[in-house]
Amino acid sequence: MVKKFTFNNPIPTKAVVADIKASNDKLLYFEYKDNSFVYTMSDSACVYGLGEAVRGINKRGWIYEGYCSDDPNHSEDKRSLYGAHNFLIVDDKSSGGDRFGVFFDYPARITFDIGYTDSSKLVVSVDKADLDVYIIEGETLREIVKNFRAIIGMSYIAPKWAFGFMQSRWSYFTKDDVVRIADSYKEADIPLDAIFLDIDYMERYKDFTINDERFPDFAKFVSYMKARGIRLVPIIDAAVKVEDGYDVYEEGKKNNYFCKDENGDDYIVGVWPGKTVFPDFMNEEANKWFGDKYKFLTDMGIEGFWNDMNEPAIFYSEKGVARAFEEIEKYKNIPLDANTFFDCRDVFSRLSNSQEDYNSFYHNYDGKIYKHNDIHNLYGYFMTKSASDAFRRNNPEKRTLLFSRASYIGAHRYGGIWTGDNHSWWSHILLCLKQMPSLNMCGFMYSGCDIGGFNGNCTKDLLLRWLSLSIFTPLMRNHSACGTKDQECFAFGDTESFKNIVDLRYRLLPYIYSEYMKATLSNDMYIRPLSFDFEDDEMAKTVEDQLMVGDSIMIAPVYTQNAKGRYVYLPENMTAIKLNNDGTITESEIKKGHHYIEVALDEVMFFVREGRCVPLCNRADNVDSIDENTIKLYGSGDSYELYTDDGYTTTPTLSNIRTLTK
Ligand code: NOJ
Repeated sequence: MVKKFTFNNPIPTKAVVADIKASNDKLLYFEYKDNSFVYTMSDSACVYGLGEAVRGINKRGWIYEGYCSDDPNHSEDKRSLYGAHNFLIVDDKSSGGDRFGVFFDYPARITFDIGYTDSSKLVVSVDKADLDVYIIEGETLREIVKNFRAIIGMSYIAPKWAFGFMQSRWSYFTKDDVVRIADSYKEADIPLDAIFLDIDYMERYKDFTINDERFPDFAKFVSYMKARGIRLVPIIDAAVKVEDGYDVYEEGKKNNYFCKDENGDDYIVGVWPGKTVFPDFMNEEANKWFGDKYKFLTDMGIEGFWNDMNEPAIFYSEKGVARAFEEIEKYKNIPLDANTFFDCRDVFSRLSNSQEDYNSFYHNYDGKIYKHNDIHNLYGYFMTKSASDAFRRNNPEKRTLLFSRASYIGAHRYGGIWTGDNHSWWSHILLCLKQMPSLNMCGFMYSGCDIGGFNGNCTKDLLLRWLSLSIFTPLMRNHSACGTKDQECFAFGDTESFKNIVDLRYRLLPYIYSEYMKATLSNDMYIRPLSFDFEDDEMAKTVEDQLMVGDSIMIAPVYTQNAKGRYVYLPENMTAIKLNNDGTITESEIKKGHHYIEVALDEVMFFVREGRCVPLCNRADNVDSIDENTIKLYGSGDSYELYTDDGYTTTPTLSNIRTLTK
C-alpha cells in the first residue's frame, strides 16, 4: 500500500515513523529527470493536499512551494505560507484514471507546479535530489489519507478545554486588561475557556520571563483565572534575547546550544527583543534543554502554549544590517530616479527573512553540521517537538495545549497549528475553510485560523460570519494584531448575536470533541472536502465552499458581505438544522440538489446526513461545565456513537465510545 523510493542521500526528517524499506522498483506514476518529478494529469484529475497553502481545495492551476515562510500577506499570488506540507493526492478514478497519494520527504525548498506552467503536468522540483518519495495507495480517498497517516504516526491530541472558545490579542498588556476581557465576556454571558498572552507579558520579550510590573504574582493570577474557568495561554518565541545575566541566554551560550555562523560564533539576528540568537532545536541536547524551560510556566499553573516566529522569522541580521548600511551609502551621491529610489527604499526591507541569512547559519543535527537552508522546514517542527517531549517528560499524566506557526509533516505528532497572520477580509473566511481539510490530510488535526482576521479592522458582520465557520474548527480563537480595532465578541455593542453563535459551539462540543477524537485515533480526517464522502458525485468534486465535519455534519457557511444567505449543494437528502436567533433549533428535511438558504447574521444553519444524528447539549460557560446529560439527538437517524473521556488523559482509546439513542 505504501512504497518508498529513495533518491541519493536524504537528510533524515523523522516525518515517517513506520519502518519502510526503500523499493528497488522504478518510481510509480512519476517520471524522474534532472531533479524534477513529472506526472501527466488528465483533464479531469483533481489534486488535493499541501496542507497550509493559498487557493483551492483542488490545488490544480497554481505553483506552490514547501518552504516555511513568515509572510503576513496571504494573497492568492503567494506560493508558500508558514508550513511545508509536501503531501498530495491525485484523483482521477472516476474517469478511469489513477488515484494515489505522494509524500516528498524533503526538508529544504521544494516546488509543486500543479498545472501552472503546463496545465497537464504536475512537476515537483528540488535543488538537490536527496529525498525519499512515498507513494501511497488506497481504495478510497479517505483510505489513502489513513494509509499515509499510519506511516507518519498519530496526530497530537489537545486537551478538551482547548476546544472551547478562546480570546487573544496582541497584546493584553496587563493583568487588569486580562481581567477586563474575562469580565466583559462574563457580563455578556458568552462562554470563554482561555485568554492568550502575546509577547508583552514577558520582560522585554525574553522567553520564560514574566513582566512582574504588569503581571505581579503571576502564579496566583493563573490560579485565580482558572478558578474563574479561564486558562491563560502564553506565547513562546523561537529567538532568545542576547543579554548578559539572562539565564536562558547564558546557559545556551555556555553549552553551544545556539545556531552558529560559518566561523562557529553564535549567529546574531534581530527579532522582537532586538539582538537575539536561535536555539538549535536540531541538536538533541539543546532541544531537551529548551523544552525543559517551559517548566518555568507550567510550574505556575500554565497548561497551554503557542510557539511563534519559528520559520524562523528574521527581521534582520547583524551582518545584513552592516551590508545594508554600506549599500545605502551608494545612493547618497546619486540623483534618485524612479528605479534608484525604489531600490534604495528596499535596501532595508529586503533584510527580513533573507535567503542570505538562511544560508549563513548552521545546525548540529545528529552529529553533523547542516546549513540552515538545507533543513529549513524542520526548524519549527523541532521547536514543537522540543516543547511536546518536555510536556510528556514533565507532565506525563496530562495533555498540554500546544500549537505552532511553522510546521512540517511530523510536527503533527507534537502539536497543532494556527494559520498565522491572515486579514480581516471576507475572502479569508473562505481561505480558512479551504485550508482545514488540506491540513487534516497532512495530519494537522488541531488547527484553526485567527477568527475575525489578524491584520486589518474587523466589522461586526465579518466576525459573526467568521464565527459561524469557526464553531466547527477544533481550534477556535479570535486573535488580532496591535493597532487594529477591538474585535472581541463584546466590542460591537450587540452581544446577543455573538452569544447565540458561541453558545452553539458549546452545544455542539460533545459532537466536535467526539468526532475529532474518533478521527484522530483512527488516522482519519475530521474535516473533509465533500468529494471525500461522495466520491461518485461529480458535482461534489467541484464544491469548494462547503465541508463535511465529522461523520454526520455538512457545513455551508456564508462568507460574503451583505449576503442574506447562499446557494448550497446537497449530495443527498439531509436535515437542515437551524439555530434561530432566540437560541431555539428548527429541523427541516431538504432534498438532494441545489438550494438557496437564508441565514441571518445571528443565525447558523448546518446539515445532517441522511440517517445520521448530531448530539446537542445545553450551552455552558466553559468546557469543564458542559453537562452531557442534557444531550438531545437531532437529524433523521436514531443513534449516535459518542466518544467521551476526562479531557486530559494521555492514553485515550476508542473504547470510550457509547451509543446514544433517541
Ligand atoms: C506573529 C504572530 O503570527 C501573531 O499571531 C502574534 O500576535 C505576533 N507575532 C506578535 O507576537
